[in-house]
Amino acid sequence: MGGEAVDLVDPFGRVIRDLRISITDRCNFRCTYCMPSEGMQWLPRSEVLTFEEIERLARIFVQRFGVEGIRLTGGEPTVRAHLPALISRLADLGVDVAMTTNGATLRNTADEYRAAGLRRINISLDTLDRARFAEMTRRDELDNVLAGIDAAVAAGFDPVKVNAVIERGVNDHEIVDLAAFGRDRGVEVRFIEFMPLDATGHWMNDKVVGQDEIVAAIDAVFPVEQVPARGAAPADRWRYLDGGGTVGVIPSVTKPFCGDCDRVRLTAEGAFRTCLFATEEFDLRAAMRSGASDDDLAARIVAAVGTKWAGHRINQVDFIRPSKSMSQIGG
Ligand code: GTP
Ligand code: 5AD
Ligand code: SF4
Repeated sequence: MGGEAVDLVDPFGRVIRDLRISITDRCNFRCTYCMPSEGMQWLPRSEVLTFEEIERLARIFVQRFGVEGIRLTGGEPTVRAHLPALISRLADLGVDVAMTTNGATLRNTADEYRAAGLRRINISLDTLDRARFAEMTRRDELDNVLAGIDAAVAAGFDPVKVNAVIERGVNDHEIVDLAAFGRDRGVEVRFIEFMPLDATGHWMNDKVVGQDEIVAAIDAVFPVEQVPARGAAPADRWRYLDGGGTVGVIPSVTKPFCGDCDRVRLTAEGAFRTCLFATEEFDLRAAMRSGASDDDLAARIVAAVGTKWAGHRINQVDFIRPSKSMSQIGG
C-alpha cells in the first residue's frame, strides 16, 4: 500500500473524518424508541463481519482516506464476544477509538476496555426513575447502568458522555433532573431529539422535544451560555455559568446539522452507509468475500461517498424512512 492519504470528499465538499462501525445488531435492552419488544430477527453469525474484516476496512479508511475517529456502536457493542481484542486492533491504527453503549455491563469491563485502548465512551441513560427505566428499556437495569457510568469515570475515561433520548410524555419532565445528575457526576449529559428510527413506527413530530425547549428548561434552573463552534459533532453544547460543567443537545429534528457532517457508517453485516437516514447501502462484505483487493474496496468507498446526500428530509413531504431501525444501523 503506502502513499499519502487522500481525503474522502462528498458531492457537497464535506470531508469524511469519522467512521461509525456497528459490530453487532444484537442488544441486551429493548428500548422503545429503538427496538420492538420481541421479534427482532438477528443476523446469522456468518453474515456479521469478523474482526479481521472490520480491521481491514478500518485500515483502508484510516490509511487511505485519513479517517481520524472510529466509534463502535451496535445494537449494543458490548455483547460482542472478545471486544477488547477488537478495540486493541483498532487502537493500533492510531486513531481516536470511541464507543457508544447502554452501559449495563460496564461495571465489570470499563477498565479492560480502557486498557485495550478505548479513548472515549458515551453511555445511554434516559431516566433516573427505576420503573420508567424498566418501561423505556424493557429491562430492570437502572442500577447496573448507574454503576457502569461510575465505573467509566473511575476507569479514567474523560469525557464520559451520557445520552438521553427525550420523548414527550415519557421522560420530558426529567430534563432538569438529568442535567443535575450530569453536574453531580461530572459527566456531560446530551439530550437527543427523538428521531424516526424506532422499530415500531410510533415516532410522531409532536413526540419530539426540541432543542430550544430543552435548553430553556435547563437554563431556568441552572443558567447556561452556549459554547461556540460545534464543528462536525452532532451536539450543540452549553456551559453552566456556575462552573458546573457542560451539557449538550443533539437537535437532529429541529436544527439538523447535516451541513457539517463528516460521518459514514458500516453496519454489522458490512454494509456501507453514507447517512443514518440513507436508503441505499453498499455491500462491502460481499466484495471482500469474493476476493476484492484493497484498491477495489477503496474505489467502492469513493463511489459510495459520491452518493452522500445534502441531508436528511425529516418532516419534509419527501422524507423516506430507512427500512432499517436504529439498532440495525448503529446509531
Ligand atoms: P462524540 O464523538 O462524543 O460527539 O459522539 P457522537 O455524539 O457523535 O456519538 P453518539 O453515538 O453518542 O451519538 C449520539 C446521538 O447522536 C445518537 O442518537 C446518534 O444517533 C446521533 N447521531 C450521531 N451521528 C449522527 C448523524 O450523523 N446524524 C444524526 N441525525 N444523528 C446522529
Ligand atoms: N432517536 C434518537 N436517538 C436514538 N437512539 C436510539 N434510537 C433513537 C431514536 N429513535 C440513540 C440511543 C443511543 C444512540 C446509539 O442512539 O439512545 O444514544
Ligand atoms: Fe439496545 Fe441501544 Fe437500541 Fe436501546 S437504543 S435497544 S440499548 S441498541
